Amino acid sequence: MSPLRTGASLEESVSAFKGAESVFAAKQETDFSRLRGLRGNAWTEEQAMKRIVFGISGASGMPLAKAVLQAFCTLPDLEIHGIVSEHAEAVLLAECGETAAFFSDVLHTLYNPADMTAGPASGSWLHDGMIVCPCSMSTLGTIVSGGGQSLLHRAADVTLKEKRPLLLVVRETPLSRIHLRNMLLAEECGATIMPFMPAFYAGENSLEAMMRQFAGRLLDQLKLSHTFASRWKENL
Ligand SMILES: Cc1cc2nc3c(=O)[nH]c(=O)nc-3n(C[C@H](O)[C@H](O)[C@H](O)COP(=O)(O)O)c2cc1C
Repeated sequence: MSPLRTGASLEESVSAFKGAESVFAAKQETDFSRLRGLRGNAWTEEQAMKRIVFGISGASGMPLAKAVLQAFCTLPDLEIHGIVSEHAEAVLLAECGETAAFFSDVLHTLYNPADMTAGPASGSWLHDGMIVCPCSMSTLGTIVSGGGQSLLHRAADVTLKEKRPLLLVVRETPLSRIHLRNMLLAEECGATIMPFMPAFYAGENSLEAMMRQFAGRLLDQLKLSHTFASRWKENL
């Protein structure tokens, strides 16, 4: 059980998030046991349970991250492993008045972003793709540099080296030439640049509906089935 599930104060959550090594050690043990029989050693098309890594960095867009995760949670066969950067926590508080506890409630596992021993730090830990939503310019720049000291950056690096899908929901405006160059470099290295740019032809134009549609487009990129977003010329 995550220490962040209890609706604790920000200070309690942050301290649990960063400091409780024993809790994370126990958590890893739990994760290990959960791997058996799910994704674990299997790497086949028929694999029923899909697994994705969901990184949340400190750009504006926490309501979008929440909406996407809430949509993803309606899929019974999807295991979502989350990494929330330290700066994302501050933005989450500013934009939603919430702590990382919200994310721990909807994730299969919430990792300590400083824990380089966690599964997503290794290419041998299998998954079906990674999303960074929102993706800050700082995280984008770090990913294309091939460096980074956090689990989020390492997991993205691993995803690229293993040639798995990496979707970057970049967010900044206006975009400098550095940002644009970094996006091009990321795309050339195998990432998909997917800013939240809603389409207006789907009928429902509320922000909620557009965020749900966008969640569907992300899943499409990962080739994961869903029915909660409409399609042009299809009756879903
Ligand atoms: C309220 C708030 C909104 C922010 N919005 C953005 C943004 O939209 N895009 C961006 O690149 N950085 C934004 N930042 C700055 C990042 O949080 C900062 O660059 C941070 O170092 C990113 O760290 P991370 O990528 O490791 O999460 C914002 C910061 C705050 C406090």
